[in-house]
Amino acid sequence: MANRSTFSLFLLFSLLLGHGVTELQASHHVYQHLQSTSETKSSPPSQPYRTGYHFQPPKNWINDPNGPMIYKGIYHLFYQYNPKGAVWGNIVWAHSTSTDLINWTPHPHAIYPSQPSDHYGCWSGSATILPGDKPIILYTGIIDPENTQVQNLAVPKNLSDPYLREWVKYPQNPLMEPTIENEINGSSFRDPTTAWLGHDNIWRVIIGSKIHRKGLAVLYRSRDFKKWTKAKHPLHSAKDTGMWECPDFFPVSTSGQNGVDASTFGPNVKHVLKASLDDTKHEYYTIGTYNITLDRYFPDKGSVDSDSGLRYDYGKYYASKTFFDHEKNRRILLGWINESSSVADDIKKGWAGVQAIPRKIWLDKSRKQLVQWPIVELEKQRENHVQLPSQFLKGGSRIEVSGVTPVQADVEISFEIPDLKKAEVFNPSWTDPQLLCSQKGASVKSALGPFGLLALASKDLQEYTAIFFKIFKGKDKYVVLMCSDQSRSSLNDDNDKTTYGAFLNVDPVHEKLSLRSLIDHSIVESFGGGGKACIAARVYPTLAIDKNAHLYAFNYGTEKVKILNLNAWSMKKAHIFESVIEDLK
Ligand SMILES: *[C@@H]1O[C@H](CO)[C@@H](O)[C@H](O)[C@H]1NC(C)=O
Ligand SMILES: *[C@@H]1O[C@H](CO)[C@@H](O)[C@H](O)[C@H]1NC(C)=O
Ligand SMILES: *[C@@H]1O[C@H](CO)[C@@H](O)[C@H](O)[C@H]1NC(C)=O
Ligand SMILES: *[C@@H]1O[C@H](CO)[C@@H](O)[C@H](O)[C@H]1NC(C)=O
Repeated sequence: MANRSTFSLFLLFSLLLGHGVTELQASHHVYQHLQSTSETKSSPPSQPYRTGYHFQPPKNWINDPNGPMIYKGIYHLFYQYNPKGAVWGNIVWAHSTSTDLINWTPHPHAIYPSQPSDHYGCWSGSATILPGDKPIILYTGIIDPENTQVQNLAVPKNLSDPYLREWVKYPQNPLMEPTIENEINGSSFRDPTTAWLGHDNIWRVIIGSKIHRKGLAVLYRSRDFKKWTKAKHPLHSAKDTGMWECPDFFPVSTSGQNGVDASTFGPNVKHVLKASLDDTKHEYYTIGTYNITLDRYFPDKGSVDSDSGLRYDYGKYYASKTFFDHEKNRRILLGWINESSSVADDIKKGWAGVQAIPRKIWLDKSRKQLVQWPIVELEKQRENHVQLPSQFLKGGSRIEVSGVTPVQADVEISFEIPDLKKAEVFNPSWTDPQLLCSQKGASVKSALGPFGLLALASKDLQEYTAIFFKIFKGKDKYVVLMCSDQSRSSLNDDNDKTTYGAFLNVDPVHEKLSLRSLIDHSIVESFGGGGKACIAARVYPTLAIDKNAHLYAFNYGTEKVKILNLNAWSMKKAHIFESVIEDLK
């Protein structure tokens, strides 16, 4: 319901527009806090690690996705961007739009330093669609060289422009700032979420923060989106988690896969709170209940509220954010996939950071975890379908998947285990799946596993990234381990080759075991068990590049497994920055 104060905000903005715009135009981009050491020269000739269908600009550094939304049928992606180099610094909001979340059109930077309240940087934030289909952005501004953080507001200059190319900042920014009275730590106060509206017509928003080692979601309330008051207590906090970056808080339906709007409450939804932990660079989420009377969030009993809790992704994936796509009734998750290469290599290649393929996200039937799946639009990029007949893969064997381009592919495989009783016994002290995967990597045989895919493999297997399962016999159920082993991904040892792992909540007695991997030159983004565990990896092969890469299905366990289905496709290059790349030629 469009309340009167919301309307008057826009009236106010219309009145102030002239002034604000003059100010915007009069200002120039000020970057007084230069972190970048070298300006990117023309692109080096060989770029084997640039992606074909994952979002990335032609050059320079990117990180967090910001303010994703759909407006008049057009998807908006803003993202943290350094216009001056391949390392973090000089941060502005770059902007692209799309009708399918895969192919994108670039626009001029949407938000960049132009006010005292963001003079030293425009950091992450979120969009909220106000009643009457009016998008509004809250973002973090940096006001001094000590990185003191405040929250600012911007609105589109012209709501008739479906691309929302120009944004006008509220002249009275900042709206929220650290003070002695509110006890907010000014260097740990950032990343406002999408706001939600209570039945009391009051908006709420949370901002990531910490007090000593306690991570928290500071809660603010407002009637008009301009005047915000800090609540006495945070929405939620968790001890020993350190600074919470990019919090996200949203409802999920308890039935089916449809998403719901942020302002949905009641018995038919559960709530999810996600935090990105600055200390460990992991994200975790809990599932719980939001009591809007108390304005507090309570994780369900058993939902682990710490770094060892559930993750959207057990690999390289950070600063994620969801939004509700009201046109397709789904909630979509975006996330930043960082490099695993050295800063020197990033500068050499002239760019760093990609966006993960957008994922639809919903609550699992168990109500104990979320499920994610690449958005259906991605399937339009598929071509050259290859299908392998159902077959046994005996212990110690592999088969090549030919007919697709192994560096730019989408592959789905599912397995059935003829004799589960052969599984090795699970040791209950194995509580850390990542550690287990690094100790029991792709070269360590057990009875059932490793079996899965070898992506970006060189002909002689000097290089490969192995995504695989191992099955163990637990006390009263089978335990499925999903791993992404990068230890042999490249002959170049300057890269972070950490092996990632997750326990996959699939019962191999009654369910097939499925794996889907999106392979894109330097990315292997994998979805186990239909999206119950996801692992994104960055790899930089030196041999398995372009036409020299191969794709295999393998089983290095001692017992045979059965491939039920294997479908693979080459992926067409997405149109992402084509006009700009033309300009650069
Ligand atoms: C607003 O956008 C519409 C659609 O692009 C355009 O026709 C119109 O001229 C714009 N108005 C202003 C004041 O720029
Ligand atoms: C405030 O944040 C800064 C930056 O992380 C940190 O060094 C400082 O210890 C924090 N202070 C408190 C009281 O948490
Ligand atoms: C919210 O908390 C209040 C006060 O403890 C309680 O009376 C109410 O039942 C709670 N509501 C829900 C939906 O749990
Ligand atoms: C990004 O990757 C670099 C290189 O591996 C690492 O040093 C840095 O901590 C990472 N940052 C995040 C947020 O993952």
